[in-house]
Amino acid sequence: MPSLKSQLYQQFGNPTGPLGALAGLVMANRDSNRRRNAWTVRQLDIQPDDRVLEVGFGPGLAIRDAAAMARDGRVVGIDRSATMQRQAHRRNRDAVADGRVELRLGEPGDLLGDYGRTFQKALAVNVFPFWTDSIAVLRQIGQLLSPGARIALTVQPRGSAATNDQARVVAARMVDALHAAGFAEVETRTLPLQPVNAVCALGTLPR
Ligand SMILES: C[S@@+](CC[C@H](N)C(=O)[O-])C[C@H]1O[C@@H](n2cnc3c(N)ncnc32)[C@H](O)[C@@H]1O
Repeated sequence: MPSLKSQLYQQFGNPTGPLGALAGLVMANRDSNRRRNAWTVRQLDIQPDDRVLEVGFGPGLAIRDAAAMARDGRVVGIDRSATMQRQAHRRNRDAVADGRVELRLGEPGDLLGDYGRTFQKALAVNVFPFWTDSIAVLRQIGQLLSPGARIALTVQPRGSAATNDQARVVAARMVDALHAAGFAEVETRTLPLQPVNAVCALGTLPR
């Protein structure tokens, strides 16, 4: 029988049930998680009237920060976990009630029917490693972005064996995937963190 710790780790890709709720609490309260979410939002230079898309919002930390910046715009999040949708809703109750934030259940492709090239900014924090076909997902996200839109993909490797070398390898994979999905002006930035750095790959959808 796997240990409770390893069962908890398995929850982060699609949190469900009581252990998934616990994983959400860990994500919402762990200092490194809070810092990498706040930092990622800051990389996007969000303007007051921007429309922002977050894929894999988890407990909703970045949704809250993005909504504070896009105060005359709108923030739409999509996550495949109903457990995370409930936690993110609690964290963003007022903004959801007044229509500035929408939290959808599903995957990015599920938004294509409802949204055209709507969003000026997009982000995904510690979600890229869960995409089995990251280029396909990024192409779907690209179909939701307006020309010139900016995307930020951040990963901080987790687990007892995580290293800064792993962070660099993930950064290179994100850069390759962004290029392959048609994004330009691709660059990486690093947030020094303990126990392991977070890396962000940024790209722009060509006009
Ligand atoms: C490790 S958590 C990170 C949550 C949040 N971004 C954070 O940093 O606090 C990964 C989240 O991405 C969601 N997720 C993973 N793959 C997804 C996909 N293809 N579509 C939608 N959500 C996804 C999971 O349900 C989970 O809530």
